[in-house]
Amino acid sequence: MLHLPDASRRRLIAGLSAALVAAAGAHAALAAKKEAKPPPPPPEKKTGAVEDLMREHGVLRRVLLVYRQTAGQLRGGAKIDPKPLRDAAQLFRNFGENYHERMLEQAYVFPTLRKAESPAAALVPTLVGQHDRGREITEYIRNVTGKGAIGDPEAFARALEAFDVMYQNHAAREDTIVFPAWKQSLSDKQLREMSETFEDIEHREFGKDGFDDALKQVAAVEDALGLADLAQFTAAAPPHV
Ligand SMILES: [Fe+2]
Ligand SMILES: [Fe+2]
Repeated sequence: MLHLPDASRRRLIAGLSAALVAAAGAHAALAAKKEAKPPPPPPEKKTGAVEDLMREHGVLRRVLLVYRQTAGQLRGGAKIDPKPLRDAAQLFRNFGENYHERMLEQAYVFPTLRKAESPAAALVPTLVGQHDRGREITEYIRNVTGKGAIGDPEAFARALEAFDVMYQNHAAREDTIVFPAWKQSLSDKQLREMSETFEDIEHREFGKDGFDDALKQVAAVEDALGLADLAQFTAAAPPHV
């Protein structure tokens, strides 16, 4: 046992206490530092085949909303920058017409409905006809906006509105009649395989996640045309009656 005078013992105890406090402080700081590190992001959840098709409609509907807003502005005499409209039409061509319509719906969804003799198959000829008409209108939008100025604003506005009405009806029928009937005609295993197949096609076609990229593109178009702020579309209160 170590015998020290009282004063020395008190100094030793004080010194040891300070060292312990400092060590505890350092330990707590280290622990806090460890805790402050953000947790790793959770693994991405799988998107089912039907959800995939419907969220693609979401992107296409946002293009249609751009078209409808643009038509209204043109009728009001506004000057519209054709560049973002051309980008919107190009997005509709690549993501909507070439990928969603031809590679998914016409290659997988519609043939399965026909084979299963689903009542929803009766809509298929009209749906395919509307895909074709949509391509014609997209081509027209690309041609008009490719010239750098919109020549006949009234004719252009009419085409944008007609496309909007057609495709809103088209996508709404697919969401509520066609896709549910398609899902019904597949087993759980076949549906899971379809999700994988759709994902493979998406990666092959776009080299990465095509949906995320399409979402960025439509957001850029909205931004360029002053349509990005959702709050601007909140309706006015109805009149008192
Ligand atoms: Fe379609
Ligand atoms: Fe569709």
